[in-house]
Amino acid sequence: MDKKIILPEKDMPRQWYNALPDLPTPLAPPLDPETKQPISPDMLAPIFPDALIAQEVSAENFIAIPEPVLDIYRLFRPTPLIRAERLERALGVKCKIYYKDESVSPAGSHKPNTAVPQVYYNKMQGVKRLATETGAGQWGTSLAFSCAMFGLKCTVYMVKVSYEQKPYRRMLINAYGGEIFPSPSTATRTGAAMLEKDPGCKGSLGLAISEAVEDAATHEDTKYTLGSVLNHVLLHQTIIGQETEKQLAMIGEKPDYLVGCVGGGSNFGGLVLPFLRRKLSGENIRFVAVEPKACPSLTRGQYRYDHGDVAGLTPLLKMHTLGASFMPPPIHAGGLRYHGGSPIISNLAEAGLVEPRAYYQNECFEAALLFLKTEGFLPAPETSHAIKGAIEVAKQAGPNETVVFAYSGHGLLDLSSYEAYMKGTLENYELPQELIDEALKDCPKI
Ligand SMILES: Cc1ncc(COP(=O)(O)O)c(C=O)c1O
Repeated sequence: MDKKIILPEKDMPRQWYNALPDLPTPLAPPLDPETKQPISPDMLAPIFPDALIAQEVSAENFIAIPEPVLDIYRLFRPTPLIRAERLERALGVKCKIYYKDESVSPAGSHKPNTAVPQVYYNKMQGVKRLATETGAGQWGTSLAFSCAMFGLKCTVYMVKVSYEQKPYRRMLINAYGGEIFPSPSTATRTGAAMLEKDPGCKGSLGLAISEAVEDAATHEDTKYTLGSVLNHVLLHQTIIGQETEKQLAMIGEKPDYLVGCVGGGSNFGGLVLPFLRRKLSGENIRFVAVEPKACPSLTRGQYRYDHGDVAGLTPLLKMHTLGASFMPPPIHAGGLRYHGGSPIISNLAEAGLVEPRAYYQNECFEAALLFLKTEGFLPAPETSHAIKGAIEVAKQAGPNETVVFAYSGHGLLDLSSYEAYMKGTLENYELPQELIDEALKDCPKI
């Protein structure tokens, strides 16, 4: 049996799958943060191009991928599905473990799957510059790469703790031609106000989002892009699960468990959503979502309306949230430090169709090193959560069952995190209930 299941380029999916019409309970609408009434799509026009707004609320099950986007996808897609049998042997499990390798993209993660179409649709609408936030730097790199492909300018607000921990991400963003600020920055009013209040503030994704949205809203030629959470982002990521489905079919396999790490929910959603119809029609496919105990939005957050950012500029979304004012502890999986989960994944978790689990960062790094020493590749700290989740699932799985996890990114620019783990200086942090209660107090009452 082949180690790698390679989908021929001609079989790469040409449509994204939109799960919205298939959700068993309809998605709660986004609300205007001022009036608390459902927003109309045109209210998003100052920050997003029309095509993405249409996708955000689309009732179509399949949306064609434009040819120029397919052209860039072909630089790295289809991505391989790989049998991790050396890991299986090391664990002594009888089930099969596969991973879908999204680390082979130019940016090193799944994020270009949505960065490329987002830049494309903006360019089609005449936008000249894009502003965004980034946590660990993967999304910022992906947007800078995609802007370079289509000739747009790119401004990235990078959460300060990651900016300091990950200088190489910063350099790569610069190499693609992007400009980058540590957030909080003095480039925006929101950032400057935070620095005045707390000069030592290490930032959060919620704060960096506020800075990027403010930048877009105050510059005519600039729009905002978000690398996770929103429906259109999960839509673009469904290429992951659609390819996986075809690759499993090539070898006559069916998945019993689909596992992914969850920050905002896009790589996980991208893997599992194309299997939603099969699950709803009675196939026993379990969707296991893995998050850090330090930022446990799905396992311990409340399912309610909240702001997507600290300044309250974004629409209110119904999601599992730890409170938008929550400042996550500086754990090393920067991409998993968001206070909320995507509305689609939150909706499915609430319906019991997604099973969330949380682990400590040290046990995830331990799992990552086992993967490195058996399968040979160094995972991103975020991805280490998916590996930990897959290992725990595999230990419980039956002998002929199949576990597939999303290998969302490589960790070659995250070596400082591994150094800290190997030195034994990483702390296992579990978010205290008082901090969750405190941050939830600021949530709008709806
Ligand atoms: C490698 C990697 N995996 C996972 C994530 C989490 O994001 P999401 O839940 O949107 O896939 C990130 C976010 O930055 C990431 O960089």
